[in-house]
Amino acid sequence: MAQNWTPSSWRQKPIQQVPEFPDKAALAATEAQLATFPPLVFAGEARRLKKQLASVAEGNAFLLQGGDCAESFVEHGADNIRDFFRSFLQMAVVLTYGAQLPVVKVGRIAGQFAKPRSSNVEVQGGVELPSYRGDIINGIEFSPESRIPDPERQMMAYRQSAATLNLLRAFAMGGYANLENVHKWMLGFVKDSPQGERYRKLADRISETMDFMTAIGITAENQPSLRETDFFTSHEALLLGYEEAFTRVDSTSGDWYATSGHMLWIGDRTRQLDHAHVEYFRGIKNPIGLKCGPSLQADNLIELIDALNPANEAGRLTLICRFGHDKVAESLPKLIRAVEREGKKVVWSCDPMHGNTITLNNYKTRPFERILSEVESFFQIHRAEGTHPGGIHIEMTGKDVTECTGGARAVTAGDLQDRYHTHCDPRLNADQALELAFLLAERMKSGRDEKRMVVNG
Ligand code: TRP
Ligand code: MN
Repeated sequence: MAQNWTPSSWRQKPIQQVPEFPDKAALAATEAQLATFPPLVFAGEARRLKKQLASVAEGNAFLLQGGDCAESFVEHGADNIRDFFRSFLQMAVVLTYGAQLPVVKVGRIAGQFAKPRSSNVEVQGGVELPSYRGDIINGIEFSPESRIPDPERQMMAYRQSAATLNLLRAFAMGGYANLENVHKWMLGFVKDSPQGERYRKLADRISETMDFMTAIGITAENQPSLRETDFFTSHEALLLGYEEAFTRVDSTSGDWYATSGHMLWIGDRTRQLDHAHVEYFRGIKNPIGLKCGPSLQADNLIELIDALNPANEAGRLTLICRFGHDKVAESLPKLIRAVEREGKKVVWSCDPMHGNTITLNNYKTRPFERILSEVESFFQIHRAEGTHPGGIHIEMTGKDVTECTGGARAVTAGDLQDRYHTHCDPRLNADQALELAFLLAERMKSGRDEKRMVVNG
């Protein structure tokens, strides 16, 4: 076990991005009650995910991680969850088939409620109020009452996470994810979508392959892997009081696990080596992520890796890189070289969202071309360095929103006002997410062909 660590040892350290709760007694009472609630995930599942991520670190699988920037209490409905899951499965199947690699599936969901903010205050029409920090902390409504941090919200976040996870498990294991349904996943997927035709063709090919397998005796009935999928949950573990309440000893191994989700990550704003978030993370055994932005220096990264993954265990640590399309070429190679030089085992994942946010017509948005450009640079750089571009981390929804500009059915700056629903950052809509998956699958396929030519030539 990590030295001098307890689930509450982070409380002795300086902390960023966690607000003061005015009612300390109410906060403590809530945390004490949460600590008596059942865990959301089981340690064995977190270990299973870690194993799958180890396979990504070794270059034999690909990580798809995605979901809302911030989940919200008002958008907690079955349709939302189903539409997200359908888009996510469509992406996963495109990537699996196109790249011919297993895809490790991790949602930013069932716990993604707390948001770090660049400013402590928000000004509207000359009025200044504390910033919105996610539904688990305060309300998005621009009023003094709503912006007061309220511990009761953590109860609601827990219950919503449990219900969301329950439905996702049912979908993943109960038949919805059956590969025989690839055509059914088209239902409700906008008819005039430019991705529709492309997706239908791929679904036809998969169905044909399934027909062939049925003919030789392999069916979804006798092969669970055709009808079930492993789907895992993840979120930024920002609100450490809540996380501490769900940090439990696993009875089978005696180790501490965070049980609020399978995988947790540390944000780019809270990754100071001697601060509270790194302290909390070093003691839990889950697979974890570390967001890496342009300010992260190579030697600092190595110190963080030593603190967070001292045993150099493959699958423990995913580096989620979010530099921006114009900074990735400068920032990423230095980090890759340091990690390679030190022989550290990590998963490299690309978050092409957070470094590419701009403001257009007073809307925070992200141009699809820039998102794509960062992913492409990420792949090219890894190819040049001889390392594995292990995955992507995206903000997406299954809905037809207009939050990011561009894509094959172009969302323009003028369209942003139509269906701009996000509680925080702009997300890819269902079409844009699927388009990204197709483009990626093509890149990965050509990378594989290149390797094959080297081997055969
Ligand atoms: N079990 C495999 C997997 O999860 C195959 C599979 C079943 C699948 N349903 C899926 C792949 C849906 C992608 C999407 O990878
Ligand atoms: Mn975000």
